[in-house]
Parts: sequence; structure tokens; C-alpha cells
Amino acid sequence: MSPTPASLLTIFGATGDLAQRMLLPSLLALQRDGLLPPGLRILGTARSEIDAASFRDATAQAIERFMPVADRDEAALRGLLDRLDYVPAALGDAASFGCLAERVRALRGGGDVVYHLSTAPRLYGGICTMLDAQGLAGPGTRVMLEKPIGHDLASADAINDGVAQVFEEARIYRVDHYLGKEGVQNLLALRFGNALFEPIWNARHIEQVQITVAETVGVEGRGDYYDDYGAMRDMLQNHLLQLLCLTAMEPPSQFDPSAVRNEKVKVLRSLRPIGRNEVAQETVAGQYAAGAIDGRAVPGYLDELGRASRTETFVAIRAHIDNWRWARVPFYLRTGKRMPRRWTEIYLQLRGVPHSIFPGARVEPNALVIRLQPEERIELQLMSKTPGLDRGGVQLSRVALDLDMHEEFATHRRRLAYERLYLDAIEGNGTLFVRRDETEAAWQWVDAIHDGWRAQGLAPKPYPAGTWGPGSTVTLAERHGHSWRE
Ligand code: BG6
Repeated sequence: MSPTPASLLTIFGATGDLAQRMLLPSLLALQRDGLLPPGLRILGTARSEIDAASFRDATAQAIERFMPVADRDEAALRGLLDRLDYVPAALGDAASFGCLAERVRALRGGGDVVYHLSTAPRLYGGICTMLDAQGLAGPGTRVMLEKPIGHDLASADAINDGVAQVFEEARIYRVDHYLGKEGVQNLLALRFGNALFEPIWNARHIEQVQITVAETVGVEGRGDYYDDYGAMRDMLQNHLLQLLCLTAMEPPSQFDPSAVRNEKVKVLRSLRPIGRNEVAQETVAGQYAAGAIDGRAVPGYLDELGRASRTETFVAIRAHIDNWRWARVPFYLRTGKRMPRRWTEIYLQLRGVPHSIFPGARVEPNALVIRLQPEERIELQLMSKTPGLDRGGVQLSRVALDLDMHEEFATHRRRLAYERLYLDAIEGNGTLFVRRDETEAAWQWVDAIHDGWRAQGLAPKPYPAGTWGPGSTVTLAERHGHSWRE
């Protein structure tokens, strides 16, 4: 039976940073465009002992602070605030959960409920158990889980097991907000809505792939969290591996939760393990030192953190997918904080022409560039004749067929990732959420690299803020005749 749209969204951690920056602004945008189900109520809960009126005030302030003026709308804000309610609840305080349960029962009115857990993940199991004990986790309820689910496979298993005691997998929606991004979904449209790419989308025609998620920000007051995770667990295990899956997966037979996720998990399970004997050759970990970004001096990671640390803020990996489609094609993955610019991109470089008929002309390989952030564009790099009379032979230049998605769809609103994710969760569509076997396969691969680093005593190498990582990153690609995009 397919789920019915929820009549209640309950957000745990509703006073937190994510709620203020992303969740509440996304709900306002949906309200503004009339996309929330008419009767939907939104119940916030957290430990803060505030009442519903204060929560509404805090919401209005968060909107003012984090939502661009052009996207705000007074009537929509009033409409959103009318939907909001708040009850404080603390795990371990059964009485507070009793009050929460009473409110959930009153507000859902027999309809479906989405619980969005945006608290410390170690609390997820306990929250689900409490919901169950209150009779609030039965049919018609589903749960959204924020990352990071675990720190490694064992801790992820413990969290997933706790939630699975109460909710079966089809009712668990693990969030990777990259999957809510328009550009990321367009990757599927590009691959599977065009016949042009499929014939060349394989090892016979593709020489190398690069996936870069570069950020200019540092750890921004999140040092305590970040220091336990590092770039590998915070970004690579989830966002980059999801981008890798969408780039490398086989065509699913349908755009539905099972078909899409079945194909993604096959990619993750085909990743060639990188263990203690390979880490030195196939990975680079870095940590930013003081430097400058856009002409502004910024401190190093250790200064920001205020203590010694071996946590990596940058990681680069040369990965391989051992299957027929991708045999021997390197997938270079790279992510870091304090890079020279914010830049998320998938780059597929094709193999060169088999034989050049233009002696003396430089024939560069074609490439497809899918830029996801900050702009969304698709660029096909081609060789073209340089205009001229060719007295010294034909000369070639690299040119680009360049599609700016924002210009192309100028009349369409740019959506926040959570707008899409909330709508899908409210409507009960799990396609853009991560299934348990995907997170497990991703952790398994990432854990082996961590074990390898530990076994080899490898510490991250420093790189000045505002550069593309430690010098050895260049060697990682150059050893194999490739160079990073910059
Ligand atoms: C989050 C990470 O998942 O993604 C952050 O925890 C990171 O460290 C953020 O800054 C990046 O997201 P976006 O949407 O800004 O690319």
C-alpha cells in the first residue's frame, strides 16, 4: 500500500542550527508556493523549555536571518507560523515524552506522521524506542534520519539496529542533502534522459573521472563535531560516494526507490578496497594551516580548534570500480575545507583520438563537465579548428558547448535541498534517501582506508588555506598521467 501524505511533521532538534538555517527556510519556501498539504501541522521538539509562541518567534527570526529577502513572504510566514507548535522533550524524561505523545496524537488526527530526527545520532535509537512505547511508531509513520549515522560501520550498525527495532527499512528515510540538490538530480536526467551519453559512458571511452567538492569555509564553530569526523567521514563517506554512485551506476529500470538504490549499492560494493598496503599510494590526507582565501588571511585548523589534532580536513583518493563498465578507469575523489573556491564538479575526460590527421596541432581529449555548485552548468569540451588560412597546418583550439542551467531555466525558482526532501518524505517517496545497505557498503570501504592510515601511522599533511591540498595530491594523479582540474 503506498503511503498517504503526512498530516504531521515532527522535528526533533527543532531549535538547532540545521533547523534554523535549512529546515525552517525550506518549509517557508514550500508554504509560499502552496506545496505543503493544506492540513499539515508541524511540531517542533527539543530539550529547550520554551513554549509554542517562543518557538514561532524563534522561527520568524531564523527566517529573517537565514533566508534571502527576495525569498521571504509575509503572508507565507504567517501561514507557516500558524502550522507550528512546540513541546519540549528530553530523552530519559518519560513525562516529557508523554506530553509530546499527547500532542502528536492530537495534531495528527489519524493521518500519517513524519518524524525528522535532527539530534545527535546516538539518540536516534532511544527516540524511536520512546515513540514506540507511546504507541506512536505504528503504520502510517516514517522517520527521517540526519547524518552522520555512525562514525564507522560498527557504530552505524548500532544506530541502524536501534531504529530498525521500531521502524522497518521502507519507513526509514536517511538524509543525504546532496540528493535533494537540483543539479545532482539532473545528473540522472542527463544520463538517462539522453541517448547521447550512454554509448560512451564506459571504460572504452572514458579515461578518467574526477569528483570534487571543495569548500572555502573552515570548521565554523563546529570544531568539536568535526574533529571526531574529518573530511572522510563528514563528506566523502556520504556526499562524494553518492555522487560517485549516480555517475557510475547502471541505468535503473524505473525511477523508484528500489530500482535506483539497487543500482547505487552495486557501485559501492564494486569499489576496490584500499587497505594498509594501498593507502600511501592511493590516498592523500591533509589538514589546513594558516593561509589566505580571496585575499583574506585565515587561521589554521589547529588554531581554530585550540588543540593538537590528526584529523584530516582534506582527502583525495584514486578509486576504482571493479566491474565491466569501469574496469581500470580511475575515479579521483577530492574534498576539502579552506580550498581556493567553492566548487562542486564531476568531470569525465574521454580518451584521446586514436590517430591525429593534424600534424603539429595539439589534440586534447574531449571532456564533459557537470558543475553542481556554485553555478549549475554542463559543459562539453571539444576541439575546433582555429580560424585561419592554415599555411603552417591546421591548428586546433579547445572550445566549450556550455549550458548555464540557471539562465536556461531563469523563470524557475532555485530550491533548497530540503524542500524536495521534505516533500518526498511527506508524500512517502524514498527514492532520494539512502538505504541501509548503501551506508553499510560506504562505511566498509571508508573504514578500510582509516584502518590503513592507522596501520601505516599516516598523519594528514599540512596545506596552506587557500590551496588545493598538500603537494602530494598532484603526484597522486600525475603518477598516472592525469592532472587535477583547478
Ligand atoms: C555537510 C557537512 O553535510 O555538508 C558540512 O557536514 C559541509 O561540513 C556541508 O560544509 C556542505 O554542504 P553544501 O550543501 O554547502 O555543499
